[in-house]
Amino acid sequence: MRIKELKILVQEFDRSEELPDSDQKLLEAARKAAENAYAPYSHFNVGAAVLLENGEVIAGNNQENADFTDGLCAERVALFYAHATYPGVGVKAIAVTAKNKNGFLAEPAQPCGSCRQVLVETEFRFKNPIRIILDGKKGIQVLNGAESLLPLAFKPVALD
Ligand code: THU
Repeated sequence: MRIKELKILVQEFDRSEELPDSDQKLLEAARKAAENAYAPYSHFNVGAAVLLENGEVIAGNNQENADFTDGLCAERVALFYAHATYPGVGVKAIAVTAKNKNGFLAEPAQPCGSCRQVLVETEFRFKNPIRIILDGKKGIQVLNGAESLLPLAFKPVALD
C-alpha cells in the first residue's frame, strides 16, 4: 500500500486590478457575458470567456431550458463555440464569473464537474495547460492548468 498526496496550487488575488492585463480583460468579457445569460429558472447567471492561442476571445453564458437537464453551462457554451469556430486552436485561459440575485458572488465561481472534465479534455487535445481565472468579489483564484481543478481526471488515454 502506498499513500500518494496530490497537491494543487491556487493563486489568490484580493482585487482584479492585481491581475495581469490579459486576465483582467478576460474577466471583463466573462462579466459582460454573464449579463446575457438565459437563466430564467435558476436566476444564476454565469459568464465564461476563453482566450485562444490566436488571440481571439470567445465568451459564453449559461443557457437554460424548461426541461432543466437540457441546459448548458457557460464554460461549455464558450469552449464548444470556440472549437466549432476555431477547431485547431488551443486555449490559453478561461475566466469564469457568476451572479445570483444578490449580485456577483463573493467567493470565487467554481466550475461544475462536467465543465472541469471538458476543460481537461481541451487541455489534453491541445497539449497546453489552461490558465483558469475564477472571479469573486472577495478574491480571485488562478490555477495554472485544468488538471488542478480535476485531479485524477478521466482522460482519453484510458480508451486506448
Ligand atoms: N452553471 C454554469 O453555467 N456553470 C457551472 O460551472 C455551474 C453551473 C449554470 C447551470 C445552470 O444554468 C445554473 O448555473 C444553475 O446551476
